Amino acid sequence: MQHREGSAQPMVYLETYGCQMNIADSELISAILRRAGYGAAARPEEADVILLNTCAIREHAEERVLGRLSDLARLKHQRPALRLGLLGCMAQHNRAQLVQKAPYLDLVAGPDSYRRLPELLSQTRFDPIVDVRLDRNETYAGLGSDHGPGPRAYVTVMRGCDRFCAFCVVPYVRGRERSVAPDAVVGECAELAARGVKEVVLLGQTVNAYRYGEVGFGRLLRMVAALDGIERIRFTSPHPCDMTDSVIEAMATEPKVQPYLHLPVQSGSDRMLAAMERGYSVGQYLELVERLRRAIPQLALSTDIIVGFHGEQEDDFAATMGLMRQVGFDAAFTFKYSVREHSRAYKLGDTVSEEDKARRLSAVIELQESLSMARNRAEIGQVRKVLVEGPARRGDGMLSGKTPQFKTVVFPAQARIGETVAVRIVSATSHSLSGVAA
Ligand code: SAH
Ligand code: SF4
Ligand code: F3S
Repeated sequence: MQHREGSAQPMVYLETYGCQMNIADSELISAILRRAGYGAAARPEEADVILLNTCAIREHAEERVLGRLSDLARLKHQRPALRLGLLGCMAQHNRAQLVQKAPYLDLVAGPDSYRRLPELLSQTRFDPIVDVRLDRNETYAGLGSDHGPGPRAYVTVMRGCDRFCAFCVVPYVRGRERSVAPDAVVGECAELAARGVKEVVLLGQTVNAYRYGEVGFGRLLRMVAALDGIERIRFTSPHPCDMTDSVIEAMATEPKVQPYLHLPVQSGSDRMLAAMERGYSVGQYLELVERLRRAIPQLALSTDIIVGFHGEQEDDFAATMGLMRQVGFDAAFTFKYSVREHSRAYKLGDTVSEEDKARRLSAVIELQESLSMARNRAEIGQVRKVLVEGPARRGDGMLSGKTPQFKTVVFPAQARIGETVAVRIVSATSHSLSGVAA
């Protein structure tokens, strides 16, 4: 491996796009490369190797990365020894085509290739290396990650997805579902607790489909909850179809499992849900929400919504707005449908115009703002336990942290990061709360 003159070790700069699972993967990649002798560069200009860990979920995500790559290619022009690599879901999605789109790439490596990264990097000298083999057994269990600072840490408990929703590229870029052995999950959480982490977020694309032998997701939650030092447990993303009684019961009865659930619904129209192959109807989703709220009265709910999927008519869209009002989500992540190559719906194409998608998106965003506002206002007067994450972004000596319901609270107090403080909520916007120590 060549490295920059005068520097003792090769330096790697890693930039991450996409979901929490990608953030967790970057923490794994950092650990793998550190053990192979690489140092971490804070800026691309200081690096011998630049890696982008990418997302393929929507076309826009890929365009952003291609734009960034062409910027970085300029650095490579100045310093031909610089190695430029593209990792993650977009690597898996586009494979060798990427080397044509971005001929300055030295390495293209998919989500199951990270164990081999040091070896692959050492081979990048002349021709670009493409390693996009998916491996149905790779879980990276026990490999260890360089978790970021702060009282919260991400722990991947399952990889891949077997659901094949018609719009989605994840099963193709992440491969088949596979779970990390419970001992490895518990071991990692115990290590995190020993290092002062208070909250773990268990991750998987369909995290509640977790299964390892006899151990399902409900059991796993209880195993992690048994660890001293871990005070809060969250998980994302659960699929509505895998929301079993055992998981709901663990949420309801295990105090460490926080009363917040991100439960993607995608659409409020049965016709769309069927076309999306989501596996549930609007009625079943609502029934699940009711069961959850009965079992966990303090529950906060967020969701994902796609507008403009193939065939979506005005009445389908109106049904989505209706469902959002009916549930009263605390938050929603809203997206314009983006046709993805390889997905089941790819061949169906796009039927909703860009204008209609944009209009529908604005409408769901506006509606969600008012729903979030109402849900957040209802917090005023409540005392919530807030896990302190650090100084508030706006400065002025205020602290910021999350309530059990995963709402951000800004408040004045003398407290350390990682401490839990009782805070009385005094005001609310649609995005955050402010409070005073109770
Ligand atoms: N595994 C999670 C979601 C993963 S992707 C689940 O099933 O709930 C995150 C979100 O991106 C999805 O919930 C969906 O709302 C959105 N999404 C996925 N594919 C998309 C596409 N082709 N166009 C627009 N949004 C998409
Ligand atoms: Fe994609 Fe559906 Fe799997 Fe979620 S459950 S990752 S939306 S295929
Ligand atoms: Fe994107 Fe891959 Fe996550 S496609 S949303 S980074 S699993």
